Amino acid sequence: MKRFIPIALAALAFSALAADAGLPKLAKKATYKIGFAQTETNNPWRLALTASMQGEAKKRGWKLVYTNGNGSAAKQVSDVDSLIAQKVDAIFLSPREEKPLAPAVLKAKKAGIPVFVIDRNVDQSIAKAGRDYVTFIGSDFILEGQRAADWLIKATKGTAKIIELEGSLGSSPANDRKTGFDERIKGTPGLEIVASQTGNFTRDEGRQVMEALLQAHPDVTAVYAHNDEMALGAITALEAAGKVPGKDVIIVSIDGEKDALQAIIDGKLGATVECNPRFGPKAMTAMVDYANGKKIAIKLTNDDRFFDISNAKASLASSY
Ligand code: AHR
Repeated sequence: MKRFIPIALAALAFSALAADAGLPKLAKKATYKIGFAQTETNNPWRLALTASMQGEAKKRGWKLVYTNGNGSAAKQVSDVDSLIAQKVDAIFLSPREEKPLAPAVLKAKKAGIPVFVIDRNVDQSIAKAGRDYVTFIGSDFILEGQRAADWLIKATKGTAKIIELEGSLGSSPANDRKTGFDERIKGTPGLEIVASQTGNFTRDEGRQVMEALLQAHPDVTAVYAHNDEMALGAITALEAAGKVPGKDVIIVSIDGEKDALQAIIDGKLGATVECNPRFGPKAMTAMVDYANGKKIAIKLTNDDRFFDISNAKASLASSY
């Protein structure tokens, strides 16, 4: 047994080193040219993420090459190709969907460019943090779904007919927010998801989907939306159908954008779990640490707040 421990420790250390050895190196420089591959610009959360990345790069005097996937995974894959061709020093990738963007990470690795995956993750069976890209920086989307469920269980006293508005299909927040929520409500038999459909993370699609689902389920008493924009769309649909959001139908969502905090103050939205979009400082500090040879954890999780009527007003001015 005594002889086994040092051998096991050595094997562990070796596997950590082996993972690092496969990653492209990043030189220490006074300034960098970095790439940021954004998914789309269809909501305030995305705009806040872009502003944070651009603002932090500017503050550091770095050049940031920005690409916009315009809501298409295929376009985002070609955006990463273009960043590789432009020989950026590092790529910050916010992948639209888990599977299609994973090979793009492998391509960048092959080209010797370190990748930092931010916000959403890629499929770990294709590209792995610490082996194919440096780290994943983002929120715990499963926890977000669980926190939304916990709030709803309390607010509805454990009895509700729920419509779930899902995020973009195939994206990690849509997958994980569903998993976290579903797991949590399992133990409360009075909570029933009567319909679950994607609203693609946008206000207008959230409204349209809610309008259609309301026809089939006029007796709905709660909405769980995977982001604030869809919750705001659902509020419009409910009001158009003569229902009072916040009274007839209790709503919970995720993000923490300004309009959502205002909707909480107005009594229409019950609560929103924060998903912080301000990645710039954390992401670029991780990159500098990596260039300086520091060991970077394969996952850097954001600490997110929770907004309800107790703090929405105080948080409004600093929201996006
Ligand atoms: O990946 C994070 C999610 O993507 C945000 O909740 C949503 O608003 C955005 O489009």
